[in-house]
Amino acid sequence: MSTKMEVIRSIEGFVGENIDSLLKPVETSWQPSDFLPGLSDPGWKERIDALQRGAENLADDVLVVLVGDMVTEEALPTYQTWLNRLNGITDETGVSNTPWARWSRGWTAEENRHGDLLNRYLMLSGRVDMRAVEVTIHHLINSGFDPQTENDPYLGFIYTSFQERATKISHRNVATLALRAGDDTLHRICGTIAGDEARHEKAYKMFMTRIFEADPVGAVCSFATMMKRKIVMPAVMMRDELDGSLFLRFSKVAQRTGVYTVRDYADIIDSLVKHWDIEHLFGLSDFAAQSQDYLCGLAERYRRLAERVALTGTDRFTWIFGRQVG
Ligand SMILES: [Fe+2]
Ligand SMILES: [Fe+2]
Repeated sequence: MSTKMEVIRSIEGFVGENIDSLLKPVETSWQPSDFLPGLSDPGWKERIDALQRGAENLADDVLVVLVGDMVTEEALPTYQTWLNRLNGITDETGVSNTPWARWSRGWTAEENRHGDLLNRYLMLSGRVDMRAVEVTIHHLINSGFDPQTENDPYLGFIYTSFQERATKISHRNVATLALRAGDDTLHRICGTIAGDEARHEKAYKMFMTRIFEADPVGAVCSFATMMKRKIVMPAVMMRDELDGSLFLRFSKVAQRTGVYTVRDYADIIDSLVKHWDIEHLFGLSDFAAQSQDYLCGLAERYRRLAERVALTGTDRFTWIFGRQVG
């Protein structure tokens, strides 16, 4: 069996050939300014008034999930650092021309717009305590994040395949809540970001498909390992001035609003297991076959768990001026 590094090297050509369809050229890419009033535009005051009127009916729980998603995006320095630590993916010079290094910078550049756009929207909306939100971002980047992928590219791409799909679901659900509250701007913003996440999900799943083709045993074992460790959300270390339970409080609101739930977690497992056709991998070693069995029954286990999730109590958030949500 090839070593993981050899496999990663062997699909580099594929990444190089496909990078232009997986990432959009700068010239045709959207930018945060396309969605928001520019302060040098004539009529900017009226446009900001209109944006604020649109945001007027966003409920506190929607604001909380939106801020949580924005904070997650804003910790991008952590994720780029992580991506560059994966064996074989590393951008050796910072301007390396290898397909993996180009992917890493291109992905980061696209993702960078997500936090910028949500941050500016929230600032202009006047609905949240921006300083409290900024304190959370500061804490989160300070704290870092360990997704338990070691520096292993197989574990890394399982993680990103899952995570990009999770963020897509989350942004898409916030877009729906925004539409229901009559906020067309936010609906468009979250829908557009979800579109990027969908494209990134597709890319990471394609990389992983190549890994499954080259090294099915290594790939299926890595998939099972990652799922046993659980896919922890990148904002797990976020905190605010109240206490260290912020991520837990946020997760409860995400679950209650239906923005990201245990059922979504189960559905993502199910979709990945089907996408890589885990059930029909043949010629596996005993250990790999155990991983295969584990993966094929896993979504169902989470679905049963989802039925038992009970959420109680109300929680305070500094982001919305200390108001309670529950
Ligand atoms: Fe993003
Ligand atoms: Fe993403």
